[in-house]
This record gives sequence, C-alpha cells and structure tokens, in this order.
Amino acid sequence: MRTHKISVLPGDGIGEEVVREGLRVLDAAAELEGFTVERKTYPHGADHYLDTGEVMPESIFEEMAQTEAILLGAIGDPRVETGFLERAIIWGVRQTFDLYVNLRPVKLYSEALCPIKGKGPEDVDLVVVRENTEDAYAGLGGIHRIGTPHEVAVAEMIYTRNGVERVIRYAFEYAAKRNKNGAPKVTLVDKANAIRAQDIYTRVFEEVGAEYSGIERDHAYIDAACMWMVKNPEWFDTIVTTNIFGDIITDLGAMCQGGMGIAASGNIHPEKVSMFEPIHGSAPKYRGKNVANPIAAIMAVWMMLDFLDEPEAAATVEDSVAALLS
Ligand code: IPM
Ligand code: MG
Repeated sequence: MRTHKISVLPGDGIGEEVVREGLRVLDAAAELEGFTVERKTYPHGADHYLDTGEVMPESIFEEMAQTEAILLGAIGDPRVETGFLERAIIWGVRQTFDLYVNLRPVKLYSEALCPIKGKGPEDVDLVVVRENTEDAYAGLGGIHRIGTPHEVAVAEMIYTRNGVERVIRYAFEYAAKRNKNGAPKVTLVDKANAIRAQDIYTRVFEEVGAEYSGIERDHAYIDAACMWMVKNPEWFDTIVTTNIFGDIITDLGAMCQGGMGIAASGNIHPEKVSMFEPIHGSAPKYRGKNVANPIAAIMAVWMMLDFLDEPEAAATVEDSVAALLS
C-alpha cells in the first residue's frame, strides 16, 4: 500500500481542534483511495514554549525535512510577545524550506456565503499566488534608540530577481493549468507607482509573461485590486503579488468566499516539503469551545492531498466540502 509521511503541527488556540477534524477527513480519504498516512505530531507553539522554553529547534526542521508535507493549525498566543512564535515557527518553516509560493484559492461554494450582493459561485473563483519568502517579512531592519523621542524604526522591503521570477513563473504555469473559461489570465498586483522598487515585478512580469502567449496579462495596483475584488471579483483568474499585499488581499478574498473559517493555503516549493494551513489565525478566545469552523483546515488537507499527488482523494475532499456548503 502507498504510504505518505507527513508532519503535523497543530500549534496554538483553535489550531488543535481544527487540525483534528482535518486529520479525520484525511484518514477517511486515504481509506477510500487505499493509501496510508504516517504522521508525527509536534507540540511546538505557545504552551510548549511556556512549559519548556523551547521554541522551534533546528532538529525539528531536520525531522520535518524527511517528510513530504506539514499540516499546520495556527500559531499565535497573547501570552507570548507579539510575532515571536509566528516568526520562529510559520516564517521559520517558510524560510527553512524556501517555500516561495503561498497559494491561496478564493472560491465561493455557495451564494448564501457571499457577502457581496448579486455575486455567486461563478463570480468568485480566483487564486492568489502570494510571494512567500521576501518583502518586508524578510526581517531586514530594526528599531534604533527604542523608547526615546529620537526612535527610528526601519523595515526594508526586499525583492530579488530570483524570488520575483520564480513566483511569477509559478503563477503563469498555474494559470495555464487552471485554464479558467478557456481564456487564462494572470493579474500582477503591486504598488509600483509609489514603491518604485516594485518596478522589478513590472519588468519580470512582462518578460516571463511573454513566454506564455496563450495567457492574458493584466495589472492592478493593490488599492484598486481591493476595490475590484469586491466590485467585480469575476474579473480575476490568477493573481500574483508580493508577500505583504498577498497577506492582506487574501483576508479580503476569504470574506468573499464565506469567511476565515473556510479559506486554506499551501506554502509550496514544488521540490521540497511544503506546508498547508488554514489562512485564519489561532483565535485564542475560542480555544477549546468547539465553535471554530474546521473547514479551512479540511481544505488545507485538500490542498495537501493535491501536493501529495493524490488527485482522487483531493477531489473527494473538495467535492464533499462543496456539497456540504451548497
Ligand atoms: C498568514 C498569516 C501570517 C502572515 C502571520 C500569522 C505571520 O497572517 O499566513 O496570512 O502574515 O503570513
Ligand atoms: Mg494573513
């Protein structure tokens, strides 16, 4: 029997309870399709840190590297300094495994879940390809003369030729496979009119896009893209954008598809162990109340199955969720 090896990182807050449901669906899909999933669960996150002082040791990354995929719940806890665990664990995995694509489908499965008047499933069907290793997230910068009237805080937005090119190429390849309505389109979302460093996106997008003659190229500044996403979501097919803009626009996208409880993502390097997670956070106040929607975690399992090259199991999960939601 085929066996897949995965790492499970439930994390903080509602992470554990939503991942538990995701794993039940994974097991059901595996049984149906006749494969098994070997998994190791890691306790890392706020509780583990507060109990032991250990955050995310190098040895865990080494163990995870021996598996095919990581399923993550959520990271973040108000008892710990803001961003400390997020940077060590979420950003740690993204950086360590060079997971340069954050793939975030925005798909509405039922009109009743859409807050936009008059829009239905045929209108809200797009995917955001968010760059996942650079930008202001890279951590270049710092705070100088902290707490004084002369305090200076700096965060550099960095974009490398390699980083920009590989994510744009991924977006075009993805759009070709999606082939939305037989007329695929990639929209570059940036703010190159104000942040001139993003001109690198403008140029590389034109250059790489020219290699894909069957795919239309489109462009929107991030502010306008937010407006269009609500006004005319049907205009979008595949969006490619920077790390920080991708972070923001996918929360907007999540609301268009029914809320944070539904939206999933894949942190992907096509040749490396990749990580799948709901795009929502740890929602500490709902922890243990069994009220958090597990669908985002279940859809993270759907994306993981696709990455594991189990298309039938993936389709079964997506179809089941679609049937349930509609
Ligand atoms: C996300 C989250 C993370 C991010 C946080 C928790 C660091 O918002 O995956 O969208 O900003 O990337
Ligand atoms: Mg986010």
